[in-house]
Amino acid sequence: MPSSRVSGFYNWTLQERLEWVARWADLLDEEVAVLKSAPGLTLDQADRMIENVVGLHGLPLGIALNFQVNGRDVLVPMVIEEPSVVAGASFAAKLARSGGGFRAESTPPEMIGQIQVLDLLDLEAARAAVEAARERILAHADNVDPVIRRLGGGAQDLEVRALPDTPAGPMLVLHLIYDCRDAMGANAVNTACEALAPLIEEITGGRVGLRILSNLADRRLARAECTVPADALAFGDFPGERVVRGIVEAWGFAAADPYRAATHNKGILNGVDAVAIATGQDWRAIEAGAHAYAARSGRYTSLSTWEQDGDGNLVGRLEMPLAVGTVGGATRSHPTAQVALKVLGVRTARELAEVMAAVGLAQNLAAIRALATEGIQRGHMTLHARQVAIAAGAQGDEIEAVARRMVAEGVVRPDRAEEILHETRNT
Ligand code: MEV
Repeated sequence: MPSSRVSGFYNWTLQERLEWVARWADLLDEEVAVLKSAPGLTLDQADRMIENVVGLHGLPLGIALNFQVNGRDVLVPMVIEEPSVVAGASFAAKLARSGGGFRAESTPPEMIGQIQVLDLLDLEAARAAVEAARERILAHADNVDPVIRRLGGGAQDLEVRALPDTPAGPMLVLHLIYDCRDAMGANAVNTACEALAPLIEEITGGRVGLRILSNLADRRLARAECTVPADALAFGDFPGERVVRGIVEAWGFAAADPYRAATHNKGILNGVDAVAIATGQDWRAIEAGAHAYAARSGRYTSLSTWEQDGDGNLVGRLEMPLAVGTVGGATRSHPTAQVALKVLGVRTARELAEVMAAVGLAQNLAAIRALATEGIQRGHMTLHARQVAIAAGAQGDEIEAVARRMVAEGVVRPDRAEEILHETRNT
């Protein structure tokens, strides 16, 4: 099995990086061409994806390294406009790797479709009628998509919730629990809910309003966990023990305070969204689900937890809804999404969700480790300094040397990079 552990990847040329990833993931020439073509999408392809197309919009695709998830080495394609995110994920994955990598799991890919029933005189009588007709309703929902049913998915269960006191009066809400297999499932669930509406009206005597999936996908969860030995966290003037304490304190802040939790969770979503965009997922659905899940207790809080175990190691856990698919939607119609899925090497939507949870946890670790120690600006400046050094003509080991000196001096400018380069080459 090839290793995802690489150092100094950022010092390679873009061409060297691309060739290495292509070899790693066995990419065909046409797949490499997709990554090289400016936005990875033609105007014709874009025109078939949404309405009123007049152009394309490109974003960088980077590869996060060092990830090991459930014992498997993974290269993680990330699409994001923000610097430091890909480097942060790779760095944190290296830390997690020193403790055995990420352990991840997921629940079955069950989504919830909601059907709103209004104009009911007796909510409890309507509830009883729906429950009595449960099998008939599920069988009807199952007829809608025979392919998903053949693959082992389809309608699983029905839940009935009475909302007696809403601003629009009393209503009954049916939850159709639907196993979407490897699809994200919005289309399948919405179609099933719409198909059920006349039957529900007949059974309840009410009037059906909305028929739509819920983005609070709290039955489709992904979990990731990692253990980082305290020693691996030590750097500069920071002993490992102090870094562990700082990270646990950072988590405590997010656990207790919604103002901090929003930013803490944004850090997690930096990683999750970047993989979502690379693989053609509906990242707004993921965002909606994540924030609603973070508020499920009635108070918005952190999606992750960080603690110190009995041996002094840092242990992190993340649990969040991840409604993602490996078939259908943009995963199929966007050529770069196809290549990204191939690079990831995931076979199912659940496996994809598990890798995404690991990336979210890694991103969170990178952010709070930096925040709890030297702050995030130093890392940003180092990355920026490398870019400036490269632009000034630095090559190989020179890049790091020039960047380090500019950061130490606190002057990160092209003219200073050129001066340092000139000096080092002439001594
Ligand atoms: C910036 O994109 C993300 C962070 O703000 C996350 C955090 O504060 O935990 C650094």
